[in-house]
Amino acid sequence: MPDTLTKFVYQTFQQGKQAFGYTHKTVLNRLRDVVSPVETTSRSELPASTLALLKRRLDDLTEVDWQDAESGVYPKSLLFDNPWDDFFKYYPMVVLDTPSAWDRSKNKQYQEFDSEISTEGYPSYYVQNFHHQTDGYLSEMSANLYDLQVELLFNGSADPMRRRILAPLKRHIDNLAGNPKVLDVACGTGRTLKMIRDTLPQTSLYGVDLSPTYLRKANELLSKEPGTLPQLIQANAEALPYLDNYFEATVSVFLFHELPAEVRQTVINECYRVTKPGGVFIICDSIQKLDAPEFAPMMENFPTIFHEPYYRQYSTDNIEARLESAGFQSVEMSNHFMSKYWVAKKA
Ligand SMILES: C[S@@+](CC[C@H](N)C(=O)[O-])C[C@H]1O[C@@H](n2cnc3c(N)ncnc32)[C@H](O)[C@@H]1O
Repeated sequence: MPDTLTKFVYQTFQQGKQAFGYTHKTVLNRLRDVVSPVETTSRSELPASTLALLKRRLDDLTEVDWQDAESGVYPKSLLFDNPWDDFFKYYPMVVLDTPSAWDRSKNKQYQEFDSEISTEGYPSYYVQNFHHQTDGYLSEMSANLYDLQVELLFNGSADPMRRRILAPLKRHIDNLAGNPKVLDVACGTGRTLKMIRDTLPQTSLYGVDLSPTYLRKANELLSKEPGTLPQLIQANAEALPYLDNYFEATVSVFLFHELPAEVRQTVINECYRVTKPGGVFIICDSIQKLDAPEFAPMMENFPTIFHEPYYRQYSTDNIEARLESAGFQSVEMSNHFMSKYWVAKKA
């Protein structure tokens, strides 16, 4: 397909996802106002100028995503890598499950798990209904619905935000011979690992996560297509089950805002320990208050609307200082839409 046509198709897809995500949220919010109204005084309305800025930043993200694909950072097929089968299978369940999330939110129930689920052995900060999600991160249903819920939340931009780690990762890996080892800390359902495998097929991939059901989902995703299977291990990122100086690169996507401050530091220290000298550590997470004062009201609303108990502290946390205190150097930071990136080197 000629490039202009491919770009047009990609942009149209993204706009379709934006419209779908927006409509999904608008319809459900209206329904909620009728069946389970909530006190809205604790939330601030976003001015039209902020909404316009958000739209511009989202368009910028789509553009940079296209340009990275066009310049060969990753294959263009990644731009169209939508899990359609999951969408058709699980979208009705996302909708049907929403009222129980509203109930948990209204009744401030943050630690509700199905009686069949064992919560033993997990750190207490983890045993929560993040995003008011049914069963937190600990059930098959949660693992099946998660990607779709995140896509709807970010109006189809979750994968384009994840993909922003690929250019700095490729710059580092392409200079290395052999099969460099890359670890994804808190790999969840495996979307980032799949992107890395499609972009850097020469790498040996590893993923850790605390959730056995998310790891199962990751295994399902990564086994669907040809390519070496990443080694997936259920483990706490506070004590990574790897030797010192093992990985040429370590990455982590959307983890740190879900950790208490002191655990954030412990995990960064662990990422430093397992990364080789000369290696790189790349974080993708939420934007912070200093990056975009215009978005501060949204960052205030986010932990109120969703259950994100550590987000407020995260939004002003100095991650660069944490990386440096672990030993990392030359920390580079950037923003894309609602996300932030730290690229740090181990000397
Ligand atoms: C918001 S999700 C992000 C998942 C994935 N990286 C992504 O891009 O969608 C947070 C993930 O962190 C995992 N997690 C949270 N605390 C953890 C810890 N201490 N050790 C390992 N995984 C953890 C959760 O199980 C969940 O899969």
